[in-house]
Amino acid sequence: MLRKDFLWGGATAANQCEGAYNVDGRGLANVDVIPHGPDRMAVMCGRLPMLEPDDKHYYPAQGAIDMYHRYKEDIALFAEMGFKCYRMSIAWTRIFPNGDEEQPNEAGLAFYKEVFKECRRRGIEPLVTITHFDCPIHLIREYGGWKNRRMIDFYKRLATVLFTRYKGLVRYWLTFNEINVLLHAPFMGAGMLAPDEAERDRLLYQAAHHELVASAWATRIGHEIDPTVKIGCMLAAGAYYPYSCRPEDVRLAQIEAQKNFFFIDVQSRGYYPAYALKMLERRHIDIGMTAEDEAILRENTVDFISFSYYQTRCVAYKEGEKSSGNMFDGVRNPYLKESAWGWSIDPLGLRITLNELYDRYQKPLFIVENGLGAHDTVEPDGSVHDSYRIDYLREHIKAFKAAVEEDGVDLLGYTTWGPIDLVSAGTGEMSKRYGFIYVDRDDAGRGTLARSRKDSFYWYKKVIESNGEELD
Ligand code: BG6
Repeated sequence: MLRKDFLWGGATAANQCEGAYNVDGRGLANVDVIPHGPDRMAVMCGRLPMLEPDDKHYYPAQGAIDMYHRYKEDIALFAEMGFKCYRMSIAWTRIFPNGDEEQPNEAGLAFYKEVFKECRRRGIEPLVTITHFDCPIHLIREYGGWKNRRMIDFYKRLATVLFTRYKGLVRYWLTFNEINVLLHAPFMGAGMLAPDEAERDRLLYQAAHHELVASAWATRIGHEIDPTVKIGCMLAAGAYYPYSCRPEDVRLAQIEAQKNFFFIDVQSRGYYPAYALKMLERRHIDIGMTAEDEAILRENTVDFISFSYYQTRCVAYKEGEKSSGNMFDGVRNPYLKESAWGWSIDPLGLRITLNELYDRYQKPLFIVENGLGAHDTVEPDGSVHDSYRIDYLREHIKAFKAAVEEDGVDLLGYTTWGPIDLVSAGTGEMSKRYGFIYVDRDDAGRGTLARSRKDSFYWYKKVIESNGEELD
């Protein structure tokens, strides 16, 4: 059985749902200038510099699904499904429009306070990500994003304000969304324009170090302000499979896994693992670790480990047919089916990933993203029969229940990605839908924004009501 207080719910990110990008004093952020269309990936990765919007592109995050103005209606729908928990993120530029101000923007603080109060009124526990892929443009222009050590101070200021102002309202926090993604999409993950190839590794690991130290500081600040809060890290997870039992494939899978574990090793154990120190030494990378950094990392490890799970990845020593995925690719796994976007579907991989993480860290885990991005068809009567989404989620829930009930993994909760349709981070589309709630909006930003319940809405309600016992 899952624990009685298991946190069922859904997860969103400010930039993918709020919209209202330029109201109530909000500043411009990297996420506001990542366009829909063929240039999206180049901008996300920092290869195509985009520091302000132009009139040749459409920027879906600017309007998104307008949750900024509709959050009451949306939270009411979450409550109707019986959500125990709602994972959401703060838009940094609502709180500090430029990022380096001394004083926060009160209008931005007031907005989130109302959102948290609304959640509490409806018996929903907020789980808040301090930054989900967002960074003020001003910090990118002036300081070059996270490659600059000064970012740590700006982030500390943000964290201090959030922990102080929302004391008593928010008990679960995450420091950075999918912290490992910065290695693959530096503009989105770390507010960095693409470094020269020769400098790339050095600058990326430099930025990673700054985020890791900032994360540890936030953990310390949060615990000092309110010792009862629980602060977690967040990994884009999914086990790596060797394509064959050839030792070279197995070793490659191990190396790829370590690139991800590196982040959580530091955040959970409090020090750089030996393999990472050796890798940095081999590449002559000096990340500028200070004695204070070492102490902060060591003394402020996370309370729990959260992660997103969409798929496993398969790697081969020899070039194989590529498969797509969230941010980083692998080789196509012939044993797995794929989504319409080419992401492999692997419920057993979730059980494997849970075991891997629990064995490695022995800390409570939290699945904070999982789901199927799919095309939905609205029937003439307005209904959406999304049995494919139900099937996907059912199999993944069975898999994590097995990890808990048969393998003994300590799991705090499960928040599916995008309980309400929102803008895709990878593609900028609205048509890649994850929701239980349909939103009338298309890839070009047209539509009424009206919300409606899909079949999966009623199914998930039953799942939550029965604490995961009733899955049919
Ligand atoms: C994760 C992100 O990588 O995957 C989310 O944390 C994102 O922001 C989700 O939306 C799903 O990816 P996509 O590309 O389908 O939106």
